[in-house]
Amino acid sequence: PKAHHHEFVIQATPVKRLCKTHNTITVNGQFPGPTLEVNNGDTLVVKVTNKARYNVTIHWHGIRQMRTGWADGPEFVTQCPIRPGGSYTYRFTIQGQEGTLWWHAHSSWLRATVYGALIIHPKQGDSYPFTKPNRQATLLLGEWWDGNPIDVVRRATRTGAAPNVSNAYTINGQPGDLYSCSSKGTVIVPIDSGETNLLRVINAALNQPLFFSVANHKLTVVSADASYTKPFTTKVLMLGPGQTTDVLITGDQPPSRYYLAASAYFSAQNAAFDNTTTTAILEYKSIRCNTTSCKKGKTVIKPTMPKLPAFNDTNTASAFTKSFRSPRKVEVPTEIDENLFFTIGLGLNKCPKHFRSRRCQGPNGTRFTASMNNVSFVLPNNMSILQAYQQNIPGVYTSDFPANPPRKFDYTGNVSRSLWQPSSGTKGYKLKYGSRVQVVLQDTSIVTPEDHPIHLHGYDFYILAEGFGNFNPKTDTKMFNLVDPPLRNTVAVPANGWAVIRFVADNPGAWMMHCHLDVHINWGLAMVFLVDNGVGELQSIEPPPADYPLCS
Ligand code: C2O
Repeated sequence: PKAHHHEFVIQATPVKRLCKTHNTITVNGQFPGPTLEVNNGDTLVVKVTNKARYNVTIHWHGIRQMRTGWADGPEFVTQCPIRPGGSYTYRFTIQGQEGTLWWHAHSSWLRATVYGALIIHPKQGDSYPFTKPNRQATLLLGEWWDGNPIDVVRRATRTGAAPNVSNAYTINGQPGDLYSCSSKGTVIVPIDSGETNLLRVINAALNQPLFFSVANHKLTVVSADASYTKPFTTKVLMLGPGQTTDVLITGDQPPSRYYLAASAYFSAQNAAFDNTTTTAILEYKSIRCNTTSCKKGKTVIKPTMPKLPAFNDTNTASAFTKSFRSPRKVEVPTEIDENLFFTIGLGLNKCPKHFRSRRCQGPNGTRFTASMNNVSFVLPNNMSILQAYQQNIPGVYTSDFPANPPRKFDYTGNVSRSLWQPSSGTKGYKLKYGSRVQVVLQDTSIVTPEDHPIHLHGYDFYILAEGFGNFNPKTDTKMFNLVDPPLRNTVAVPANGWAVIRFVADNPGAWMMHCHLDVHINWGLAMVFLVDNGVGELQSIEPPPADYPLCS
């Protein structure tokens, strides 16, 4: 195993998109940021220096961080932010994970532009459990705001309204040639006839689940969230923010140009919706396009467009999600020690007092909020939760996050808005080292039902089942896949539905679980699991590193 050393400098860099240049927060002046490539078993050492005017942290999304919770990254959960002028070195080892993950800023909305791929090749000497690809390409799906994303979220927080939606979806930072001023940068993905290539697709969008498809080509899914899957073939992928999917694609079509395209999947009802599509181009090498034009004789070869599902095509999304299996029988805990039921959803709160003169700009003068089990999560600001937990420092969080919602009702029915105004707090839920945990994640229809990509830090979990309506413990447990369920770090909980996950709490630390729509984190759709140390050194977290950022 190798140690890879990298330097990340967070800095403002002019970036031109959609015909305008904006000073954009980047890593090393690159947008998207650098791709990190390692082998399973290697160690990453990344020194992050903050030369921007915002606080920042970096999260290594999906990395298990076994006993290295200090390097996980969510601000105020595992560390205080790196202040302008400061630096912090993240150090961790990849243990047993192979495939595609990514890294992103975990402060405010900085991850809109501060993100990149983290590719984990098989252990040195090992090979992929599928046909060796001839070529590989990484496709980071993202969103671009024509303006400063931090200002967008700040404005929303000030007014209680929903933040502006982005102005473009992007592939590797490029909107693609269907948007204005964007054809020059459109990403080209080369392929040769007969070749089988690996595409690593990452949904790095801030607030948008996305469909992804390639014209005329089938995609064979082989891995997701850095866990191999039983291969299956599909025309369309759906990825919630945070999720990754690796697919094989074979050059079996007439040599030409084909669009790779992503468009929104948005299940919320009555939503104003901007139906735009981002594109890259799959280009057969044999047609010999040069960089400025691609012609056959005198005619320009226009890429073929795939048929993407309608934005509200829940059936396609759910059929896709249900196709995932682990490649073989896995060890799912059959007994459980913690049986948790968490509702997830939006809410509307009264305008705070200082707003009284001007009403809030959410529905009927309210402000948007979101919660799990009726608790809207508030980040501390004086110390990280992990430090307070490890060093027994009171006053930073409480450990009374409820195991169940305060009352049961028809979560997916027509719920009156007055029924549920969440309380707020910095609450964690304690787990004993080694305990076997089941969480039922139940979407609610308060304000609106919506797909919530729920991400757990520090763990991968098995998805035993998902479905629509209210979870029914009597009948739905019969649907549990205890044989070969997929292993993920982010589950797209269906709108008006539920998902059940299981994991063993074998990684001590403070681990955030939250919706990966960033706007929902702002509104409080998050909680923290506090996992205690087990017996002896190998089950315990070490003290924080010397350069660990503190709050004051
Ligand atoms: Cu990818 Cu807490 O996030």
